[in-house]
Amino acid sequence: MTDIQWFPGHMAKARREVSEKLSWVDIIVELVDARLPLSSQNPILQDLVHNKKWVRVLNKADLADPNLTQAWLQAFQAEGRPSLAIDAQHNQGIRRLQGVLLDQMADRRAQLEAKGVKPPAIRLMIIGIPNVGKSTLINRFVGKNMAQTGAKPGVTRAQRWLKIGRDFELLDTPGILWPKFEDAEVGKKLALTGAIKDQLLHMDDLALYLLEALRAFYPQVLTDKLKLQPDQVASLDTPDLLLALTRQWGYQEDYDRASQDLIHRFRQGRLGRISLDREPGHGS
Ligand code: G4P
Repeated sequence: MTDIQWFPGHMAKARREVSEKLSWVDIIVELVDARLPLSSQNPILQDLVHNKKWVRVLNKADLADPNLTQAWLQAFQAEGRPSLAIDAQHNQGIRRLQGVLLDQMADRRAQLEAKGVKPPAIRLMIIGIPNVGKSTLINRFVGKNMAQTGAKPGVTRAQRWLKIGRDFELLDTPGILWPKFEDAEVGKKLALTGAIKDQLLHMDDLALYLLEALRAFYPQVLTDKLKLQPDQVASLDTPDLLLALTRQWGYQEDYDRASQDLIHRFRQGRLGRISLDREPGHGS
């Protein structure tokens, strides 16, 4: 699956670009999706970072299962990685993030101040896979819609630093790295959250995977949000559950439309707060 979206040339280029920019910054802000705190990490970041300070931010916490988010944060903290959860879209946790970032540089800044030197602004760069909310976070950080959204092919621009209050400067373009495709399951999770393009996978496969996850971990969503009958949930296999939804939503036998509808509801948070990475502490 890796070869479908990421070709070796693209990977090398992305790696080079991120690596160059990293040398300019004090702290890396790694953005991951709170619904996938492991699967939405960047496999090569560890190699690129060396000794740089590095904070992991679980974005879209409003869409994720709060208990699992807490468990993931604990697992990351236990490994020594400063981590916190935010909801960039609704501006939740941005101040806390700034506090965590200041803490990272507190010793260095205290040393400078002790010598009577005014500490320079802390230089930041946001890094993450596609669609985790990098542009949204840049906009929230800056407080107005200054950040560029969406890449413009063929247009190269000088790097700009966005000033954030007295303490920070943020690189205006985030680092984009590819997600890891360890196996088909990771690919499905990434596609469900919109991190990789839908066209790469069959919608009905994704919908079936989501229904399996709901059945296993959030069975009440099937009855409460999707209005399936408890006896249907108990007796039907997952493809038949999808068929039941297809009919219930008036799509006759059009599984694909029902699949798209189901995935759309999931992405919008209309099925409730659901996390797909479920085992904090295992390979995190
Ligand atoms: P990127 O730069 O990393 O690629 O991501 P971007 O900021 O463009 O955000 C991707 C989508 O995620 C956007 O939705 C954005 O509004 C949404 N988003 C970002 N942060 C949060 C958050 O904390 N919570 C929620 N619920 N959503 C968030 P979009 O414009 O509708 O794009 P799409 O989902 O249709 O691609």
